[in-house]
Amino acid sequence: MKHSMVELIRTKRDGGALSADELAWIIRKYTDDVIPDYQLSALLMAIVFNGMTVEELSAWTRAMLHSGEVLDLVAVDKPKIDKHSTGGVGDKISIPLAPVIAACGIAVPMMSGRGLGHTGGTLDKLESIPGFNVIIPPSQFESQLNSIGVVMVGQTETLVPADRRIYALRDATGTVVSVPLISSSIMSKKLAEDLDGLLLDVKVGSGAFMKTVAEAEELANTMVSLGKADGTPVTAILTNMNQPLGCAVGNANEMVESVEVLRGEGPADIRELTIRFAAEMLVLAGATDVEAARAQAEESLASGAALDVMVRLVEAQGGDASYIEDPTKFEIARRTHVIEADRDGWIETCDAYAIGTAAVRLGAGRAKKEDTVDPSVGFMIDAKIGDHVVKGQPLATVSYRDGSTLDAALTLATPAWSIVDDETHAPELVIGAIT
Ligand code: URA
Repeated sequence: MKHSMVELIRTKRDGGALSADELAWIIRKYTDDVIPDYQLSALLMAIVFNGMTVEELSAWTRAMLHSGEVLDLVAVDKPKIDKHSTGGVGDKISIPLAPVIAACGIAVPMMSGRGLGHTGGTLDKLESIPGFNVIIPPSQFESQLNSIGVVMVGQTETLVPADRRIYALRDATGTVVSVPLISSSIMSKKLAEDLDGLLLDVKVGSGAFMKTVAEAEELANTMVSLGKADGTPVTAILTNMNQPLGCAVGNANEMVESVEVLRGEGPADIRELTIRFAAEMLVLAGATDVEAARAQAEESLASGAALDVMVRLVEAQGGDASYIEDPTKFEIARRTHVIEADRDGWIETCDAYAIGTAAVRLGAGRAKKEDTVDPSVGFMIDAKIGDHVVKGQPLATVSYRDGSTLDAALTLATPAWSIVDDETHAPELVIGAIT
């Protein structure tokens, strides 16, 4: 072996820096199944504690990006713009957003992730549609982007395989929260998409990986710099993640809510972020008038054009599009439990982290890499920050499969809500932007 993995782990553990050659070797050998999970897990934990230098991060991201094919989408005759979220609870924005943008004439080659830690993943949500294939051959990318304007896929054994493996490993080893690991995971996927522009939704708050604005700014600046070094324009918007987005937290129920938004309905926060992000993506594609870009996005919802794109996308990727036409077909677990307000007052917290971890405990996320998610379980939130409730009023309805997971989930989720006497107000959704 060219290098000793144990020595490289020790160097990183003791605060040293690894060379570009060593980092590329690690990525290559892990992707080739030569380095075992336990050694990479140890290295990831050392990175969580000791971070990476700018040079290390750049080399690590490049090695991940080139662990498989990099898409060549020159034959796509539209601007290629994508969006990625750093991860939140109830964050299903990508699902309505991608068809909205495609309906506006932009190509969206979206490579997403699965649930990570307490956060849900776009791929797990899309797989609630029977037959929906998140793996398509690279040759289908070009034709689908030209005909429909959007693909929604995951990393594969040929597309960013290093992220596919490291992402699943981080989820099961407590090594998610790290600026270099999140940045390299997101940017390796996005830079493999041959983009003309990228919008990043950097979440801040209890339900995000970055709990403070300062941490989120560091993450945003790091990813914007990686984009600039690659020549890809990146805009990062910092958004509030102290309470779940929308009402649904789970997988199938989040698909139902996404379809509602595509029908011009759905919760106001999801609709607002979808339109706001669509406008930002149209600006990245060259639009100069933000208000006109907003109006264009709104029109793609109002006219049904975005919903039509969603139907075509699902059909193209092997899914049963009748679920989009009739979202009552999505299977939601029949057994339900209502969490009730224990007093009158105003909702001061609706803690996204508590609700996200409880949803994972119900089976909406994974405890081990090999676990499968149960698409039917989750929460429907009835009361959010700024709402007034009376004693006994529902705060949320839990859909669950078996009683033991319900007990664990309730222990985590019930304290999520605090109710106070003084009037409270819904938080601002958007905190700031970095370009
Ligand atoms: N999204 C990703 O793709 N990777 C992360 O590490 C976090 C969010």
